[in-house]
Amino acid sequence: MNLSAYYTPTKIVFGKGAEEQVGALIREQGCRKVLLHYGGGSARRSGLLDRVERSLEEAGVAYVSLGGVVPNPRLSLVYEGIRLARNEQVDLILAVGGGSVIDSAKAIGYGAATEGDVWDYYTGARKPEACLPIGAVLTIAAAGSEMSNSSVITKEEGGLKRGCNNDLCRPAFAVMNPELTLTLPAYQTACGCADILMHTMERYFNHGDNLELTDGISEALMRTVLRNALVLKDHPENYRARAEIMWASSLSHNGLTGFGTDGGDWATHKMEHELSGMFDVAHGAGLTAIWGSWARYVCQNRLDRFMHFALRAMQVGPGEGMEQTALRGIQAMEDFFRSIGLPTSLSELGISPTDEQLEQMAESCIQAVGGRPLGTVKPLTAQDVAAIYRMAR
Ligand code: NZQ
Ligand code: ZN
Repeated sequence: MNLSAYYTPTKIVFGKGAEEQVGALIREQGCRKVLLHYGGGSARRSGLLDRVERSLEEAGVAYVSLGGVVPNPRLSLVYEGIRLARNEQVDLILAVGGGSVIDSAKAIGYGAATEGDVWDYYTGARKPEACLPIGAVLTIAAAGSEMSNSSVITKEEGGLKRGCNNDLCRPAFAVMNPELTLTLPAYQTACGCADILMHTMERYFNHGDNLELTDGISEALMRTVLRNALVLKDHPENYRARAEIMWASSLSHNGLTGFGTDGGDWATHKMEHELSGMFDVAHGAGLTAIWGSWARYVCQNRLDRFMHFALRAMQVGPGEGMEQTALRGIQAMEDFFRSIGLPTSLSELGISPTDEQLEQMAESCIQAVGGRPLGTVKPLTAQDVAAIYRMAR
């Protein structure tokens, strides 16, 4: 059991109309001028940005705006944001959007509060020592960045996608109105549900001891997402299901489902970051394209966990022995992914990497974790990672 620290400093304001409180929340932080950061246009089209701007004006909070964040957010815009934040002397970065916008805001927050090249924090060359406060108005339930200590940025040159984990970037507040997710395309809703499941599964599949309570929370969270993702497939307007999924997105990635564990595996995430760095695919779909191959490759090392996952999360009947039950659970999850329109192979994802590209991604995965084996369930070498990518073809 690894009972160490649990730190979730983010104030959550949840429910219909919650975005109207954003100006007051910023004043509560003692801040007066913000960089308003957003994506490619959905927040403007839906009228959300107008409401946020109105709330800032009413609270007497000045702002400068920087839109244009794309999925798999780019380093060049982060540099632009840092320049703007410094020149304008803003004291908080307000992200209005999903994981990509929040991650970009976190990177700007690091860069504006410290000296030197912000990319160093993403390569691991240096550790950030400060970050401007971050606020988030969440528009898609997925990455969990609204409460997480993580930020993932892509450097255009070389398609390098790298994460920086540090408590300094955990948002001071997150505004979560499930109604804001009603405008999402069905594919993005599904990708988000997959990412939420994966954040819990990455922690659930570990190679250490586990807390019964943490396991119970994780299994309930997974069942909730499995059930409500199907509700949203047929009834995307269902507010209750949107609310369940939105809250799950935060709880799956704020540390709660990893408390008392060795931290989890994370190999599927690292392998996906290579895919979305090189091919610019949606993160959630990249994860579902490779997870089944990863699970079959490593499950012998933790058949007990995979069996519990099958019985308690996927709720399949027991097979003949642990291995068959474990494999049933993996199959059930892949069936679920397909049922909500997500890929379970690279070809279904719409990409066909060459052998050289697979080897390159495998090497890059290992480099991203400092040359050590990847994951904990079965520590993977570059050869193992390449084998999993090939299985996923
Ligand atoms: O840019 P706009 O126009 O807003 O369009 C976005 C984007 O195209 C659209 N969208 C968002 N909210 C919408 C909407 N469209 C209509 N209505 C709305 N309400 O959805 C698309 C995807 O948005 P994005 O922010 O990219 O999605 P997500 O939240 O899944 O974030 C993905 C990024 O987060 C990283 C991923 O690697 C990826 O780069 N992750 C961040 C993590 C973290 N910081 O803790 C953990 C994750 O594991 C993940 O790696
Ligand atoms: Zn993720």
